[in-house]
Amino acid sequence: MIDIKFKEKLESERLILKVPELNFDTAKLLFLYVDKNREELWKWLPWVPTNTKPEHSFEFLQSCQKDFESGIKVEYFIIEKSTGDFCGLCHAYKRADFTHHYFEIGYWLDKDKYGKGYMTEAVKTIEEYLFSQNAPKLVIRNDTENSGSINIAKRLNYHLDCVSRLDFYSKRLKSYRDVNIWSKLHPNIEKQRG
Ligand SMILES: CC(C)(COP(=O)(O)OP(=O)(O)OC[C@H]1O[C@@H](n2cnc3c(N)ncnc32)[C@H](O)[C@@H]1OP(=O)(O)O)[C@@H](O)C(=O)NCCC(=O)NCCS
Repeated sequence: MIDIKFKEKLESERLILKVPELNFDTAKLLFLYVDKNREELWKWLPWVPTNTKPEHSFEFLQSCQKDFESGIKVEYFIIEKSTGDFCGLCHAYKRADFTHHYFEIGYWLDKDKYGKGYMTEAVKTIEEYLFSQNAPKLVIRNDTENSGSINIAKRLNYHLDCVSRLDFYSKRLKSYRDVNIWSKLHPNIEKQRG
């Protein structure tokens, strides 16, 4: 049903979104930022404690390449045009199986780049591309206490479909967590639905 080819590079006013190269230098750079942002990332992202050395980032990049080639997921490095700085990551994950048919968007930002609207701009850029390719629906999921992420969904006019109660177990918070599920439909589909 959803047969969309991800692009290697997208551009917006202030940002370049590009698929990272698979080599150890890129992995070292990525690991540097994971390590720098470890405290903030660990608040909301479960994989953080398992990423403790550049080799782990390299394995991550390998899995990204595999997923990109098979068309399941695109993971972009976000680059600031004015400086060339790495700003963070954002991805679109094709959830197309017997029970799901949509693209899920996820992200994290380097803490030095917070408060500039960069992630809102990056998500909007991915969104515009996927809708231009007739993606029917995009989804953002976030912990009900992750205000930074919630604000992105709100700023981009996503619809809060539901709160999935006790959706996952947070090792950090040692509790089951409620998760917001936000969606945005293709404008034509939204129009048809009235
Ligand atoms: C979630 C996360 C990416 C949000 O970062 P952020 O900087 O708040 O988000 P944006 O880059 O979209 O910037 C929005 C902020 O920039 C401000 N801003 C400045 N210029 C702007 C512009 N041109 N356009 C939009 N917003 C702008 C907004 O007012 C907002 O600030 P506020 O929160 O004080 O109101 C970041 O907190 C993060 O990486 N957290 C850890 C990982 C994480 O939680 N990931 C999501 C898991 S679901």
